[in-house]
Amino acid sequence: MEDAYVIYGGKPLKGNIKLSGAKNIALKVIIASLLFENEVVLHNIPRINDVFALLDLIKHLGGTFEFNNNTLRLQGKTLEKNRVDLLHGSHLRASFMLFAPLLHRFKECYVPNPGGCRIGARPIDRIVDGMKQMGVRIAYDSETGYYHATLSEKTHGTYRFQKPSHTGTELLILLGIMGNGRSVIHNAALEPEIDELIRFLNAGGAKVRRDNNTIIIDPVDSLSQKEPFTIISDRNEAVTYATLAIATKGDIVIHDARPNLLKKFLAELAKVGGGIEKLEENQLRFFYKGDIKSSRIETAPHPGFMTDWQPNWAVLMTQANGESIIGERVFENRFSYVDELKKVGAEIDYVKLPVSDPREYFFFNFDPKKKYNQTIRIKGQQELHGGALTIADLRAGATLAIAALIAEGESVISGASILERGYERFVEKIRMIGGSIKKYD
Ligand code: EPZ
Repeated sequence: MEDAYVIYGGKPLKGNIKLSGAKNIALKVIIASLLFENEVVLHNIPRINDVFALLDLIKHLGGTFEFNNNTLRLQGKTLEKNRVDLLHGSHLRASFMLFAPLLHRFKECYVPNPGGCRIGARPIDRIVDGMKQMGVRIAYDSETGYYHATLSEKTHGTYRFQKPSHTGTELLILLGIMGNGRSVIHNAALEPEIDELIRFLNAGGAKVRRDNNTIIIDPVDSLSQKEPFTIISDRNEAVTYATLAIATKGDIVIHDARPNLLKKFLAELAKVGGGIEKLEENQLRFFYKGDIKSSRIETAPHPGFMTDWQPNWAVLMTQANGESIIGERVFENRFSYVDELKKVGAEIDYVKLPVSDPREYFFFNFDPKKKYNQTIRIKGQQELHGGALTIADLRAGATLAIAALIAEGESVISGASILERGYERFVEKIRMIGGSIKKYD
């Protein structure tokens, strides 16, 4: 038995959870740090597998760093390689953002087609178009699976995303900062993680301004950090522990939660009867206060119901009275957990919702020839039992752990290291709220 959790579920989880630094901010701020002339100090960096993988990649490129507890000291000036190797680059989707620091330092670089979680194809066609508009000459070699990029003379431009891209917006911001003229991004993504990246860059001397979904970037000669930067807490982690509190009929206080980044989640949770109490600034109490109602949600980019939250919401809906519907509009194939939940007693099936124009409705590139499963119907209230489960992607992993903690009896969940790509000290935190969990390496 390797890389597995053994969980005994069936009791209400109660206690306090301290959130870790946000994965989807930390990864980008680390990459952006490589643009800086001086050493960069970052606090509250989570010790999670995606961060370790990125630091391994950066070390391989010649970057130097010290990572003690949750403080990272990083030096991008020592970068000496401009080719991201397949081993490191292939399983970390955010690694394609390294185009920016590598082009800034070497004017030319080689980056493999990104991998990341197996949630759908996750192409980067819009991002490549955007890079070309910003003066990057880029070609894909399907033989090697590598993109080859060089800088042209005019390194600035204006680009409108046909459909928003979270990391695509972030990469174009990084490219614009080092450009030789003003760049403008239209239909830029609105996720708050992007605003934290902008805050970090501007604190280092950048000139990036957001006007709703338009982002204006004026170039600067160099970036240097004036004082250490602290990563804010992970809102996706907050949703996982909040869901756990209600689904196990427990009572959990989450410290350093930011209600303004969870608005849509809090609204939906209140609608289905979950107990929510704001104790102090950034302290939220989630508690079970009676029957959970069924719901109908569709995911959307911020400020909508985040796609990262729907897997956790699905397992909560197995405990609701009546039938619930979840429509996934952002990613194709983000229901890897469905078959696993069925193994422990959930009743879930795929349904087709009448959608007038799927090309408009979905945020991925809809292909009329492909068969999609984008909507599920969950029958509640289902008694879950233990079982042997397998994690396919990060948020699905948390979903399976929640199911095991709801279910009476023993469950074994393999693929713990995939869950730990995004959840710091998971075993310790689950124990802190009374959960019975062991990890086998
Ligand atoms: C980021 O992914 C996050 N990852 C995801 O979190 C998050 O779910 C997503 O944004 C939405 O907020 C990181 O920040 C590292 P997109 P990203 O580009 O940037 C398609 C997690 O669990 N698309 O906004 O990859 C794409 O396939 C992860 O922490 C194209 O077709 O998301 C997707 O269907 C999972 N072509 C949709 O658009 C492109 O060129 C949205 O993708 C770019 C994207």
